[in-house]
Amino acid sequence: MLFDRESVRRRVAGLGAQISWDYRGKSLLLVAVLKGAEVFHADLGRVIDAEVETSYDFMAVGSYGRATRSSGEVRILKDLDESLEGRDILLVEDIVDSGLTLHYIRRHLLARAPRSLKVAALLDKPSSRAVEVDADYVGFAIPDRFVVGYGMDYAERYRNLPDIHILLSPDERR
Ligand code: PRP
Repeated sequence: MLFDRESVRRRVAGLGAQISWDYRGKSLLLVAVLKGAEVFHADLGRVIDAEVETSYDFMAVGSYGRATRSSGEVRILKDLDESLEGRDILLVEDIVDSGLTLHYIRRHLLARAPRSLKVAALLDKPSSRAVEVDADYVGFAIPDRFVVGYGMDYAERYRNLPDIHILLSPDERR
């Protein structure tokens, strides 16, 4: 186990407090990038102060497969329903790894003229970046290991685990 549910809860509460302070008096559109960010988005939304007028939206992206993923080619599977023009957007990601997904989505959303666009990522693997992009709010920086649970999957499994785990290779499991 990398982070148990209580550590995650405390860290998410800390991020919620910081975001509530930064966005006080503003309206916020909290955008989840499905599927991995669904759990973090739900928990983060509920620890943002009620005085920050908050709406939700969702987008889903996929990569074109391994070869093109390294080129940063991302496919939009579900786009946002809301207009972004003139609004304060907080993009919610479970993890920033190579940064290619975030880099693509940021460009895609900035083209719609939001007033501001920031990023909250629960986990960050700074040593894995292929492009220079960073989240504004980070839960935990982690080493370059494959993690599952709290929304994150391996071949669509383990998303429902309440704690965050490192997926061990067959060698490490021996
Ligand atoms: C994960 C995660 C990010 C992306 C980060 O999504 O949710 O969107 O990978 O990786 P990157 O920084 O190397 O681009 P994934 O493609 O696993 O889909 P999922 O959210 O549906 O699990």
